[in-house]
Amino acid sequence: MKVLVFGGGGREHALVWKLRQSPRVSKVYCAPGNGGIMDEAECLPADLRSLQSMVALAEELRPDLTVVGPELPLTLGIVDELQRRKIPVFGPTKRAAQLESSKSFAKAFLQRHHIPTPHYAICTSMDEVQKALSHFSTPIVVKADGLAAGKGVVITKSKDEASGVCAEMLSGKMLGPAGSKLVLEEFLKGDELSFLVLSDGERVVPLVAAQDHKRINDGDMGPNTGGMGAFSTAAMLDDKMRDWLVNHIARPVIGGMKQEGLEYRGILYCGLMMTARGPMVLEFNCRFGDPETQPVMMRMESDLIEALEASVEGRVSDGDFRWSQDASACVVMSSGGYPGTFEAGKWISGLEQAGKVEGVKVFHAGTTRHDGRYFTSGGRVLGATARGQDLQTAVDRAYAAVEKIGFEGAHYRKDIGARALKNT
Ligand code: AMP
Ligand code: GLY
Repeated sequence: MKVLVFGGGGREHALVWKLRQSPRVSKVYCAPGNGGIMDEAECLPADLRSLQSMVALAEELRPDLTVVGPELPLTLGIVDELQRRKIPVFGPTKRAAQLESSKSFAKAFLQRHHIPTPHYAICTSMDEVQKALSHFSTPIVVKADGLAAGKGVVITKSKDEASGVCAEMLSGKMLGPAGSKLVLEEFLKGDELSFLVLSDGERVVPLVAAQDHKRINDGDMGPNTGGMGAFSTAAMLDDKMRDWLVNHIARPVIGGMKQEGLEYRGILYCGLMMTARGPMVLEFNCRFGDPETQPVMMRMESDLIEALEASVEGRVSDGDFRWSQDASACVVMSSGGYPGTFEAGKWISGLEQAGKVEGVKVFHAGTTRHDGRYFTSGGRVLGATARGQDLQTAVDRAYAAVEKIGFEGAHYRKDIGARALKNT
């Protein structure tokens, strides 16, 4: 079968890599793809901000399945458009994707369905902000309602700071219309967990869990990013907790969405904080995580295409996934300056040697390929991802690969998985 993947990041490289392992997949297209995906799939141009551009490509290729990587096409309604044209597509509809595209929708939904989430207030003016702030103690989390590519959440240490960030977001200067509505939220302490399930609108099957590292610098310092590294182990989520999360979070969400006439098919990504009060939902994403997908695909032993088709065809079942007991880890290398401004076009050396490290696959994100050489083209450039019999082995292998790769201004965190390793 022919598969079309929309996207061009590390997540899409990992999805393409995994899809190609399926004996049922004969051809993979990726739009727009990146320098590394070009080696494994036919890359074609598409503007992911334009439904028209994506629909035209899907109409031309008529794939047997379309897989949408990033949130923007989903929230624009690519699934609705392709369904209308009878082109099989994996993912939620535009209305279902509101769980990610509007944080105020997600918070109100969680409250309506009694699913644990931190206390919050929704504000659209500075008057409302000032009133709401009196009900919070510091630190206070300020979130833009709309999509902000990982940059819409600021943890503020004082009410003055919170008020300043709110004013900037509401003015539209910081994030444009995404900041015209805000969610103020209670700050929670704990370990974060990316808990993903596959759903067909009714049934729910969990994937193995992963942990992201959102901040730019070691020790969780500096601004939030799209994610600087991730790991996945069998030990991070025991059966009892997994069942609790399925029964108290994933099933109530999927059931609640159906009840509200918003059937949710695809991957539901629950961003959780494991607190002393129990697990709480910080956010939903309507798609696979990036960089979590890179280590998660490395542990998947079953055929990805079968699981995606089960969701599209309404027959998700427990047998859809088989997983390795191995651990895996991904270390992201980013351009100097990211998540702020950065320069592109830097030559990347050492990729071939890095790819030869045992258990390693280097997934590309912001890269381009010219005459067999690779250059940086984005903030997150690539993710050295490794599998090993335990987390230490996987982490060591990923860093061994990172050390062979170089480009001007390269930045990476040195502590991916370190907290989990210290606690074992
Ligand atoms: P979100 O996009 O809502 O997941 O927020 C991005 C990141 O901000 C999360 O992954 C957390 O690291 C942090 N964050 C969000 N909400 C909270 C909260 N209520 N308490 C502590 N940290 C938070
Ligand atoms: N790694 C977080 C995300 O994909 O949104």
